[in-house]
Amino acid sequence: MKITVIGAGNVGATTAQRIADKELAHEVVLVDIAEGIPQGKGLDMFQSMPVEGSDTRITGTNGYAATAGSNYVIITAGLARKPGMSRDDLLAKNAAIVKSCAENAFEQSPNATFIIVSNPLDVMTYVAQKATGLPRNRVIGMAGVLDTARYRTFLAMELNVSVEDINAFVLGGHGDSMVPLPRFTTIAGIPIEKLISQERIDSIVDRTRKGGAEIVNHLKTGSAYYAPSASAVEMVKSIIRDKRRILPCAVELKGEYGLNDVVIGVPVKLGKNGVEQVIEIELSDEERAALHSSAEAVKETIAKLRVFD
Ligand code: LAC
Repeated sequence: MKITVIGAGNVGATTAQRIADKELAHEVVLVDIAEGIPQGKGLDMFQSMPVEGSDTRITGTNGYAATAGSNYVIITAGLARKPGMSRDDLLAKNAAIVKSCAENAFEQSPNATFIIVSNPLDVMTYVAQKATGLPRNRVIGMAGVLDTARYRTFLAMELNVSVEDINAFVLGGHGDSMVPLPRFTTIAGIPIEKLISQERIDSIVDRTRKGGAEIVNHLKTGSAYYAPSASAVEMVKSIIRDKRRILPCAVELKGEYGLNDVVIGVPVKLGKNGVEQVIEIELSDEERAALHSSAEAVKETIAKLRVFD
């Protein structure tokens, strides 16, 4: 089991570390264009393995040769948001970066499954799928797990209960148009409307939508990485172990939810073949309209892409 993580910034390095700490792979290759950074972080991480008790071997590199034969490629490369910057501001720069990373990695590892973490997330997943020509089950975007983790955290804070007892998912694009679904949210099986006032639910939903920006505003020099890396690793783990977890992920839709030619967050079953199934649930008119307007926002951004011209 070999996993390549592209981008040795905070998200990439933390992702590599989590994979190694959990011993999910025999080998992790950390790739970055910055000379010395992936090598230094990789060696430092490798040296933490005797203490962690894991035999994952981590190496860092500036090229792609050492990534050959990877089972999974996680793309985190790209510029992070600065305060006041929308995810779409990153579009042109990150599209070129993700396209080149995906092409280079695919050349070395044509059998790999790709997990995309770079922003704007849904559009970068579209770019990676187009750049590799892979079917949708093998190019999966990480956003819904993160957005749902934030939502679950806020609900646990509100009720002062275990985060583990909060069952929820967030649909739609990873942006201000994401669609948290209170109607499908339960605390240990109890619908949240029974425990939290509508006003508080609305405020938690709003905070979830702006969850990424809240962290950027605190950090000022970058964006979140602990929860994003944990979320990406949760997806990889479900695939590697063939757990078939149902997690919200960004995936190309082919008619599901009445949507086509767009990548957007929906619940999927993640197993050994990547996306084993796109799960379609019945939405209310309002929820469906919110998902469609989120998809419209992603489509508009896809239309602005120039990297494939
Ligand atoms: C976030 C940014 C990185 O949600 O998309 O934290």
